[in-house]
Amino acid sequence: MRRAKISVIGAGNIGGECARAIAYKELGDVVLLDIPEKEGVSKGKALDLACVAPIERFDARLTGTASYGDIEGSDVVVITAGVTRKPGQSRDDLVGINAGIVRAVSENVKKYAPQAVVVVVSNPLDAMVYVAWKATGFPAQRVLGQAGALDVARFRAFVAMELGCSVEDVSALLLGGHGDDMVPLPRLTSVHGIPVTDLLPAEKIHAAVERAKQGGGEIVKLMGTSAWYAPTAGTVQMVEAIVRDKKRIIPSAAYCEDEFGVAPGQRGKGLFVGVPAVLGAGGVERVVQFPLQADEKALLDKSINSVRELVGVVKRMMPDLA
Ligand code: LAC
Repeated sequence: MRRAKISVIGAGNIGGECARAIAYKELGDVVLLDIPEKEGVSKGKALDLACVAPIERFDARLTGTASYGDIEGSDVVVITAGVTRKPGQSRDDLVGINAGIVRAVSENVKKYAPQAVVVVVSNPLDAMVYVAWKATGFPAQRVLGQAGALDVARFRAFVAMELGCSVEDVSALLLGGHGDDMVPLPRLTSVHGIPVTDLLPAEKIHAAVERAKQGGGEIVKLMGTSAWYAPTAGTVQMVEAIVRDKKRIIPSAAYCEDEFGVAPGQRGKGLFVGVPAVLGAGGVERVVQFPLQADEKALLDKSINSVRELVGVVKRMMPDLA
């Protein structure tokens, strides 16, 4: 059986860490691609990682490149390319630069890896998934974005810190865009099945919710640049579900129309927003819907509207992608 081939576009902090984690987990062979000016970085990181293999004992071919021809035949392409936030910036501030970068990358993915499932990581996430969808012309099921996996992980970590329990026992769900109005759902957060609302006072839960929402910004403030370990872990969890056809339910930015009332009955006019999605070999195989309470629905609608506004910015910048 042939190994899966996974291409990672952008050899920065997240791209390099993705290549490492994918190789460690033996999910497949990895191509790490960056622009010609950074070809040395992609080649250098790939070579460095290849020399970890004898110690960590993984079998994966690692290729660093600036040539899109090398991504040919990829099963999955992870797009991490683009600029990251600086202190004081929101993810949305990156739209002007990153829309063009993600578009150019996606056009190459369309040309060289037309069968791939595309996982977008670049920010502002939900709008960049839209750009990748339009620019590749791929069916929506094969284009998705990493956000919920990370945001849920942050929320679980903060709840576990608050309770002093293992993160393994905290299960949580979160909906909406990867922005400041993402929607953690305390009602659906539990600790080994016990509702978190029975274990923590409301103000502690609120603090964990707010910290999860601001978690990316908290790290940008500390480091002067975006996080990469947890964003990568979330991305690789998704890649694993796809290449191993695990049918895992992972909150992902997935295409929705009727789902969660994003654009009911408006064919082709939907948006990518964070929803629980069944991930398997086909990409997003199904969006899992469930009833929301009125307050949760109101928060989700607000988050969807923020995504719609940002996609509106993209459409004005690139009318041919509208
Ligand atoms: C974050 C960036 C990667 O949330 O969006 O850390």
